Amino acid sequence: MASNDSTSKTIIVALVLCIVCSVFVSTAAVMLRPAQQANKDLDRKTNILAAAGMLQEDVSVEEQFSGISTRAVDMATGKFTDAVDVATYDQRKAAKNPAMSDDLGDADLAKIGRLAKYMVVYVVEGDAGIEKIILPIKGYGLWSTLYGFVALESDLNTVAGLGFYEHAETPGLGGEVDNPAWKAKWVGKQSYDAENQQALTVIKGSVDSSRPGAVHQIDGLSGATLTSKGVDNLIKFWMGEQGFAPFLANLRAGEA
Ligand SMILES: Cc1cc2nc3c(=O)[nH]c(=O)nc-3n(C[C@H](O)[C@H](O)[C@H](O)COP(=O)(O)O)c2cc1C
Repeated sequence: MASNDSTSKTIIVALVLCIVCSVFVSTAAVMLRPAQQANKDLDRKTNILAAAGMLQEDVSVEEQFSGISTRAVDMATGKFTDAVDVATYDQRKAAKNPAMSDDLGDADLAKIGRLAKYMVVYVVEGDAGIEKIILPIKGYGLWSTLYGFVALESDLNTVAGLGFYEHAETPGLGGEVDNPAWKAKWVGKQSYDAENQQALTVIKGSVDSSRPGAVHQIDGLSGATLTSKGVDNLIKFWMGEQGFAPFLANLRAGEA
């Protein structure tokens, strides 16, 4: 009888162990995929509700989200489109695909490289029409691309909230974009001026509320001028002509 210490038995045991473990890991990965997708979806909805200042602790996210419709916007026409299925469309992937996005060239204020042809927005509708609209935003800070949402009130001008759900800025410095006190400074600011030009600006230092234009200005983050500049650039990009300004103008005119 061959000894249990033989080389062949050692190799067989190692191989069997490898096969059993790999089957176990693959099965777990496949079986957990739907749960991971559901969690990702829940996280996205939570971020959207939080950005809009609508997140309630005691009501389920699904229930809160049920009054929000998810729509795609054609960035070339500034109008809603059914060209993509919002349930499966991934605008981050689209932005990397030359067939699904446009190179921004010199107009790349937010330093994102390419703009997806279609962007997904979230509309909160009530009996009187649109109550809020939540728009995706992204742009480069100091170390990373910041991904988030900005929400506008029914006038499609007053900021209802802003939040970033993904970035790699330094905690305590650029990471202060997540500070609720700083995010609260955005609420009530006006995105567009009397001539309907994009006017929202993150300034260096603190806003003097007695000065004209204060309604469009947000305090910069102290010690994080570069991240603040990144946020300033990205908000100007997304609220401007390259971003959602044409869509918001169409929506205001009832032509989106
Ligand atoms: C380790 C380290 C991490 C930093 N992280 C950030 C950051 O996330 N965002 C940022 O704007 N500045 C960051 N800074 C500071 C910038 O280098 C720069 O000094 C700062 O943006 C200038 O802001 P201030 O003019 O408000 O001081 C960091 C500096 C160091 C040394």
